[in-house]
Amino acid sequence: GMMRVVIATGVPGVGKTTVTSKAVEMLKEKGYKVKVANFGDYMLKVAKERGWVQHRDEMRKLNLSQQRELQALAAKAIIEEAKAELGDEGVLIVDTHAAINTPTGVWPGLPKHVIENLNPAIIFVIEASPEEIVERQRGDKGRVRSDYSDVDFLKRFMELARNAAIASAVLVGAAVNVIYNRQGAVEEAAAKFVEAVEKI
Ligand code: AP5
Repeated sequence: GMMRVVIATGVPGVGKTTVTSKAVEMLKEKGYKVKVANFGDYMLKVAKERGWVQHRDEMRKLNLSQQRELQALAAKAIIEEAKAELGDEGVLIVDTHAAINTPTGVWPGLPKHVIENLNPAIIFVIEASPEEIVERQRGDKGRVRSDYSDVDFLKRFMELARNAAIASAVLVGAAVNVIYNRQGAVEEAAAKFVEAVEKI
């Protein structure tokens, strides 16, 4: 076999981590060996070591050159760890973003070097209504996502993020799978995720 790599993307607060966790549970029940790598966690570890940030929501405000360095290091570390842990078998799910709102502009989370390193079969784009996303952000204490919490901004940004996912997919021939994370229906979204992973 070959390690299956998929990427989960979605605007902050859409519920990509929630859907991914449910999908992992379902895949494990089916007997798959699964590893989830949160891209932001890998970046945050290095950013903290260097004294650049204290909190994850500060990272997208760093200078672009700093973010680019953190991004490249994260992609390398994720794929190396996954290969060591999963070997040729198993499913690697990378929890990340196709587009990031930075002070320099909208920046790709999966530029050529990152997507080629990860080489996914599927890029999932988790979506929900902008109104619901804003509500979910409100309920998620301890996070600072005010730069993503305007309904009109979210509408435009989600379109950009979807297009960014397609642009990244083209570079490696990955499928783009848009999943709607309906209010109170995490299981339904996770089931679609699992169905696609099984078809790789
Ligand atoms: P990251 O760690 O991904 O933070 P985030 O974008 O805020 O994403 P979260 O995982 O915290 O939110 P979520 O959308 O998954 O929502 P959740 O499941 O918690 O990224 C952090 C930073 O890392 C980025 O800002 C960036 O700086 C950097 N980074 C990451 N990847 C990068 C890359 N590739 N390149 C460069 N930089 C990168 O759910 C939210 C709430 O909604 C929860 O309370 C949940 O219970 C609720 N909820 C979820 N689904 C439902 C539902 N169906 N019905 C009702 N409630 C729901």
